Amino acid sequence: MAHEIAKLLAARRALSFIEDGMAVGLGTGSTATLFIRELGERVRTGLHVRCIASSKASEELATSLGITLTNFEECPYLDVAVDGADEVAPGLALIKGGGGALLREKIVASAAKKFIVVADKSKVVDHLGGFPVPVEVIQMACPLVMRSLSDLGFEVLPRRTSAGGYYITDEGNFILDCKNGPIADPRMLADKIRAMVGVVEHGLFLGMATVALIADEDQLVERTS
Ligand code: A5P
Repeated sequence: MAHEIAKLLAARRALSFIEDGMAVGLGTGSTATLFIRELGERVRTGLHVRCIASSKASEELATSLGITLTNFEECPYLDVAVDGADEVAPGLALIKGGGGALLREKIVASAAKKFIVVADKSKVVDHLGGFPVPVEVIQMACPLVMRSLSDLGFEVLPRRTSAGGYYITDEGNFILDCKNGPIADPRMLADKIRAMVGVVEHGLFLGMATVALIADEDQLVERTS
């Protein structure tokens, strides 16, 4: 419950970055969902925004709330993107993808002039790596990429659904959750994962976030580094 209050506080603060006429990127996950709901309320009372969502789930939610959706053909840049995170480390280094939407999330964040992270305080860490790094891979390449990730020292688990099947992303790929404790050099690791043939994207978001709105039940801190 405390986390939920904190998430709502962060989501509401993110609204203060949204101005009439803006193009807005919508994240995925429980905190981003709260932001989308709050934004929907503002749209209902007259705010004009165009949005690009980072998952089918967020797209459906936005549509149900009457939020206008657009695409990168009509709207190549976003003024702001708002999304949650699984870990927030110093320098606003992030792990994302716990909800399986890391690929579109990274696309949306990369197109935004400001990328605003909304999170409760439990997501703040000193070093990335407590949360497994999600890696999105082409299905056919999965055994090969699993071996390469294991060679880097990771314990690699293909993500599964609650029914036991492989989790399939919005883009039709698998996710490998990779755990190996604190990450000493996230940039070097990101480059190594990126270089593996068959990897589509990974959940290390480095040098992307502009500000993180970190909340606990009764206080919100804006972090810029
Ligand atoms: C979705 O793929 C993720 O990147 C989420 O943004 C992240 O898992 C945070 O989710 P919550 O806001 O639900 O904690």
